[in-house]
Parts: sequence; C-alpha cells; structure tokens
Amino acid sequence: MSASAGPTTPPAFSPTGTYVPGEPWSSGVRRGPDGALTVAGVDVRELAVAQGTPAYVLDEADLRERARSYRRAFEAAFAEVGAGVDVYYAGKAFLSVAVARWVHAEGLRVDTATGGELAVALRAGVPGEHIGLHGNNKSDAEIARALDAGVGRIIVDSLVEVERVAAASRARGGAPAPVMIRVTTGVHAGGHEYISTAHEDQKFGLSLATGGHVATGTGAQTEDSPAMTALLAVLAHPELELLGIHSHIGSQILDPSGFEVAARKVLELRAALAQRTGFLVPEVDLGGGYGIAYLPGEVALDPDRIAKDVAASVAASSADLGTPLPRFSIEPGRAIVGPAGLTLYTVGTVKPVRVGGPDGEAGSTIVRTYVSIDGGMSDNIRPALYGADYHAELANRLSDAEPVLARVVGKHCESGDIVVHDVLLPGDVRAGDLLAVAATGAYGRSMASNYNHVPRPPVVAVADGGTRVLVRRETEDDLLALDQG
Ligand code: LLP
Repeated sequence: MSASAGPTTPPAFSPTGTYVPGEPWSSGVRRGPDGALTVAGVDVRELAVAQGTPAYVLDEADLRERARSYRRAFEAAFAEVGAGVDVYYAGKAFLSVAVARWVHAEGLRVDTATGGELAVALRAGVPGEHIGLHGNNKSDAEIARALDAGVGRIIVDSLVEVERVAAASRARGGAPAPVMIRVTTGVHAGGHEYISTAHEDQKFGLSLATGGHVATGTGAQTEDSPAMTALLAVLAHPELELLGIHSHIGSQILDPSGFEVAARKVLELRAALAQRTGFLVPEVDLGGGYGIAYLPGEVALDPDRIAKDVAASVAASSADLGTPLPRFSIEPGRAIVGPAGLTLYTVGTVKPVRVGGPDGEAGSTIVRTYVSIDGGMSDNIRPALYGADYHAELANRLSDAEPVLARVVGKHCESGDIVVHDVLLPGDVRAGDLLAVAATGAYGRSMASNYNHVPRPPVVAVADGGTRVLVRRETEDDLLALDQG
C-alpha cells in the first residue's frame, strides 16, 4: 500500500518559457531554436495558421506510449502473481475513431459509457468482444445495440437493469449476455466529490453494505447487500452469464491505496458468493481513475509501481480468502489521453486589474493580468466545474520580460469562465501571442459545449512532424444545421 513515486524527477520550468521537457506536457513537446513550442516536430505557429485556434493538439506517439505502458505494466505485474489482465481505455476521456484504433492497436480494449461512445468504437472497427458498455441509465436501444454488437461485457448498474438485460438477451435467443455487476465499495478516492463514484450517496452501482434494501423474487435473503442481491439475480437468469464484479472508486487518484482497499472488498464479495453458491466469478474490474500531472512538479501515478502494488495486494487478499485469483481488468482514461493533449489558443485582450493587497486593502499594488483567449469554458469546463488547475505557457516565442501573475480567461459571458486560475506569464504577453495549456487531452473535447454558440475546436493529431485532423472544427453552419428556424 505504499504511495507510488513518479518515474522521473519533476522537470524545471521557468515562467518565461525556458522549457525543460516533461510532464505536464506530452513527451513530444519541445522549444524550437527560436523559442516556439513544437509538438512531435510540428511548430505550433504553423499549426495555428493551418488549423486555426483554439485547437486541441494530440501527440499520437505519447498517447500510444501511455497505452502501451499501462498494458505492459499491468500484464507484467499480474503475470507475476499468476493472473491475467485486460486494459480497457475509458473512452469518456476522449474518443474518436482514430483514437479507438490507436488504443486497440496497442492492445487495449475500449470501455464505453453510452450508445454514442459505443458507436464510435464500432465505427473504428474495434471488435464487439473487446468493448464494454457502462451506464447507470442505459436505454433499451443501448442495451440492444450492445447485444447486437456482441460486446464482451455489459456492466450492470442496478437490479432493474439485471431484468432489462436478461429480457433483451432472451428476446435475441442467442448466447447468454456477459454481464458484470458494478458495486460500490464505500471507498472514496479522487480529487473532487463530483468525480468520486464509489461512496454511498450517489447514483452508481450497487452497494456492498447491507440494510436498506429489500429484494423480491431473486432468491436473496433480505439482509443481503444490493451487490450480493444483484449477483444472485444474474445467476438466476439463464440468459445472463455472470462474468465479473466491477468497482470504480473515483478519478484523478494520486493516492493508490484506495484501489487495494476496494479490490479487497470486491474479492471478499466474490468469495462470499462462491461460498454461498459454488460459483466463482471469473473476472474483477478495478475501474479507472489513475491520476496525472496537471502542473509542473506534480507527479503522476507510475503505472509500473501501481500495477505491482495492486497485483501484490490482490494476490495476498485472494490467498487470505482461499480463492484462486480472477482475471482482472482496469479502465484508465485520463492517464492515457490527458497528458498527450494540449490546447492551443490565441491571446486577445490583455487587461491588468488591480485586485487589492493580501488583506484586500485599497490602493494596493497587486495586479492580476487577465489574459483572454479565443476559447474558454466551452472547450475546457474542468476549472469552472471542479476548480481544476492547469498550466499555461507562451507558445509562439520566448520572452525575458518580467513575469506577471496572470489568469487565463475565456471569451464567454461568465466571470467564472477561467481556464487557468493563476500562472506566471511574461509581462509582455499580448494580443496575437499563442498560449498552450498543458494536459487537456482528457475530458476537454469530450466535455466541450457550444455555450454562447461557440463552435467546438478541432482535435488535431501530430506525429513525426505531420498533422492530421481527427475531429474537424465545428462551424457556425454546423450549429445552425440543427436550428429548424
Ligand atoms: N471507468 C469508469 C466506470 C468510470 O466511471 C470512469 C470515469 C473511468 C473508468 C475512467 O476514469 P479515468 O481513468 O479517466 O479517471 N469528467 C471528470 C472525470 C469523470 C470520470 C468519470 N468516470 C473530470 O473531468 O475530471
């Protein structure tokens, strides 16, 4: 249960742009000879001219390398204790046809949370059996589509859904539908309440805690937990195959001990079910949530370290419980795509605002420089929604101007439209400059909106000095196409 150390020492940064490669930037980010940022050999100034700004820039080699390192780390560590493991890329972090193909080519499977994400994975040619479907409120159409596509697993989120998936499977008359039961272990981890999904007072999964639950018609005893009740219900349905138990404890987790505690609880449930029914659930999914660095000096979870810790811990738990190890799976999203992406913006209005002294007295000389960029909360809602912190740098040039305390803000009609709360930028930052915001690959484009009728930026992949548009920029025509007049 030791905390993992990062793979490297935190890189040194200077606010005026003397950049040393390292997180939170993708591995392909450098400063070119004249001081402009390059990503995978592509100069951001050329990229801005060719693609416009704002633009999400995705470093393909970096993303693929992260996918590989998660897969290799977990395969090696779990092989060491005699268990198999599959890595599912959580498409909610960012999914496009190309990205689904990349991660699949790197040996990952794809976890989808809606019919829309499922459609992208299928369009990419990911085989159904390598896709999982989540969702706390799946529609009949989503369940049907998943079954028709032959998905490898439907992660069932409620007792009602056990019946709904069974009915859909029965109607198709084919092989039993492979299902996992999503349980909530009471382990709460991650940076923000809204992104922590395994404590009890929330909508996901079925609780391991007993009480407050009355089961009918399932053969369960009234003191059973909702999780146990659902497992028994699945076993009672010949149209369903009980493939596994699933637990996801939160997101942006930097203290890995929560994974081990949750895994232990899931393995206990599995052992209890086996004792009761003789059925040993073949798989356990430990969910996603692996934290990344957003700021210089922050240290991401190291996949090798966490894989070893979790493998050792589940092996010990299984030995204690006297049950053989199941096959495992994990669902990282952010850790694969987050650091691979940056957002490129053009600076517009720069406004120094006197903000008062440390205790707010008038006449103070403390000034915050509001640097407005051509995007904002519509392309990155995370600062407004979660108070998330990001790092920005001047991207088109180096400057030796004295740094100023800056706040990077968007163009939306909201004072909370902030992309970077506090960052030191060169004092001569001005309209027409380019700013790059690091580590925006996850939950940026995927949570983007059209607030204020701002078209969503493109996602542009860079690799080996070349660029490729993965998702094109939205146009006003796209927005108006939906408007029926
Ligand atoms: N598996 C399940 C069942 C999940 O619910 C999630 C994320 C993941 C995997 C992937 O988690 P990751 O490895 O990316 O942390 N919009 C929030 C994050 C919400 C995460 C929801 N579930 C944010 O921007 O931080």
